[in-house]
Amino acid sequence: MGKPRAPLYYADYIQLDRLLDCQRLESARRGRPAHDEMLFVIVHQAYELWFKQVLWELDAVLAIFRRSTVPEEDVGRAVSLFSRIVEIQRVLNQQIDVLETMTPLDFLEFRDDLIPASGVQSVQFRLLENKLGVRREDRLQLHDAPYTSRFRRDDRARLEASEKEPSLFDRLERWLERTPFLSFGRFDFWREYRRAVDRMLSADRASIRHNPTLSEKEKSVQLAGLDAAARRFDEAFGPGADPSAAPAGPGRHLSRRALQAALLIHLYRDEPILHLPFRLLTFVTDVERNFTTWRRRHAQMVLRMIGDKIGTGGSSGHEYLDRAAERHRVFGDLVGLSSFFIPRSALPRLPEAVRETMGFRFGGRRRGPRRRP
Ligand code: HEM
Repeated sequence: MGKPRAPLYYADYIQLDRLLDCQRLESARRGRPAHDEMLFVIVHQAYELWFKQVLWELDAVLAIFRRSTVPEEDVGRAVSLFSRIVEIQRVLNQQIDVLETMTPLDFLEFRDDLIPASGVQSVQFRLLENKLGVRREDRLQLHDAPYTSRFRRDDRARLEASEKEPSLFDRLERWLERTPFLSFGRFDFWREYRRAVDRMLSADRASIRHNPTLSEKEKSVQLAGLDAAARRFDEAFGPGADPSAAPAGPGRHLSRRALQAALLIHLYRDEPILHLPFRLLTFVTDVERNFTTWRRRHAQMVLRMIGDKIGTGGSSGHEYLDRAAERHRVFGDLVGLSSFFIPRSALPRLPEAVRETMGFRFGGRRRGPRRRP
């Protein structure tokens, strides 16, 4: 038997002394303490703590999707992990309100003391981006230098290592591509779906042409919009397109096969076997949206705080951040999937044999797979 352990003490357990002893104000060090710098430091530290927790959850999700077969119950666990990430992101987005109680003049009291330190040097933020799937080649360049140039050598090594690991985007794409619901034997789902889309687009065209409240110019703009939608559909789902490749266009794109699987999961989400995959995809798009919301809110805050001045890290400030919010999106395909939706009532009905084979039904004879590969 070992020595009886001293009772655990709250402050020791969470290392409170260390935690509360790491707020060093640069303005105080330079002999002119600025009251609001404490808020600035604590808000940044709170962000970094939450980033650590999000990375923790994201690593667990990545471990689940690393396997070549993902059992249904693990998809459920990934859904729970994602729901936690999404709640944390809500807190992260709200924290901007707290920081905005600092006025631009209060910020100016210590801003220059920070140069050249900047949020662009947040390793955890960049790790998050890399693990989600932002690729080096898609990144917005700051002064033609790689994003890693801003970091110390040890941090740079961590970032470079994370780039070599498959990201959530890569793993999710593989998982979607393996979905068994895409081959329907002799039933050609995509031909049926294409017909339904054509019917919907024709009805939309007719209603624009016969709309007496629209001018001829407005009609032609709206009709051109429908033509563009038809072209987008052909590009993503049309016959002859390579299913293992992504549709062309700037930004990061899922392969056609993965995109088709994602669409199918959305369209037939009422089928019990697709509930969890549907929730998973919904959370992934929530993560993407919340991330973009944070980027935009941060950019707005920067505009309010420093106007069009350059940032302490040397970027063009607000303008750089706005562009980064667009460039660093990862799951834009999933967010934009609704462009391909048609009303439920117009959805091709899957033949009974297909529903049986795919295990869409619970109870009775069930021949379909219980697991998604
Ligand atoms: C007064 C408040 C803030 C101001 C004025 C501000 C300003 C800026 C500016 C101008 C940039 C662009 C890079 C540069 O030139 O420095 C930047 C980037 C960044 N900031 Fe802030 N920031 C503030 C608060 C925060 C907070 C609370 C966080 C939380 C961690 C944060 C995280 C980041 C990150 C991660 C980037 C890199 C974004 C990217 O490259 O996409 N900032 N910030």
